[in-house]
Amino acid sequence: MKDLFDIKGKVIAVTGATGVLAGAAARYLASRGARVAFLGRSEGKLAEAEKFCGDNGYEGMSVKADVLDRASLEAARGKILEKWGGIDCIVNGAGGNLPGAVIAPEKSFFDLDFGAWERVFSLNAEGTLLPIAVFGEVFKDTKRGSIVNFSSMTAQQAVTRVLGYSNAKAAVDNLTKWLAVEFAKKIGEGVRVNAVAPGFFISEQNRSLLLEADGTLSARGRDIVRATPFGRFGKPEEVFGAIHYLCSDASAFVTGIVLPIDGGFSCFSGV
Ligand SMILES: NC(=O)c1ccc[n+]([C@@H]2O[C@H](COP(=O)([O-])OP(=O)(O)OC[C@H]3O[C@@H](n4cnc5c(N)ncnc54)[C@H](O)[C@@H]3O)[C@@H](O)[C@H]2O)c1
Repeated sequence: MKDLFDIKGKVIAVTGATGVLAGAAARYLASRGARVAFLGRSEGKLAEAEKFCGDNGYEGMSVKADVLDRASLEAARGKILEKWGGIDCIVNGAGGNLPGAVIAPEKSFFDLDFGAWERVFSLNAEGTLLPIAVFGEVFKDTKRGSIVNFSSMTAQQAVTRVLGYSNAKAAVDNLTKWLAVEFAKKIGEGVRVNAVAPGFFISEQNRSLLLEADGTLSARGRDIVRATPFGRFGKPEEVFGAIHYLCSDASAFVTGIVLPIDGGFSCFSGV
């Protein structure tokens, strides 16, 4: 019988591949035989990813690209097509919160920094839309492709203080559903669009919110762990399976979903 989870040889473009979750997922996908394009802005981290692939005999290439810069994405697409001749999947891992966009505990909505709101909205919403517009063009001809966006628990429920980030991730959910329908109807069932919605994982963008300088939980970190039935943060490797599934033919009839990876956060009443 066919291995539905076989992703050997699939070309997967991963944005934010210099970050914690997408970086780890990109390495995992390469370890499963996918040809992975690591996209990011940090040349040092990109070089590390390419070395990791080379050292392990995996197929990986690193490409410098900013998800808010169409020209840099088009140049990246050119390099991927030149090397591997196609693109099968897009994993949109670039994103996250920005310090100025978090409302301080003693402040309120009326103190919102609108400039920071716009920047965080743009990074997560536009930074997901643009790579799809650029890399996804390939799918118009091949009529095959899988897109995996990164949503968040903040999209569906109100998580205090992070308004811009929450608004942006809600836009990512909507974009996921909208494009799932658009591509199914305009291109065909071979092109699917889904999202993963991680619960809470320690990464570059939220470390200072969730942990104190000495590594112990902050008050907010404690609240989140209390609201998570598993009683802990997620580990990066716990996002691998969902992304693998959504990239593979195992999810051939699945489009427009947002899959929580959250230790039960989204189903818990808090009591
Ligand atoms: N960590 C969590 O708890 C959590 C929860 C839910 C969703 N997410 C989402 O998961 C995704 C990965 O985040 P992470 O937690 O690994 O954070 P991270 O900060 O480690 O990774 C995000 C990466 O995106 C990159 N990036 C930022 N702006 C960019 C730009 N303009 N162009 C290209 N790259 C850019 C950053 O440099 C970084 O490498 C994000 O979309 C984030 O919002 C994270």
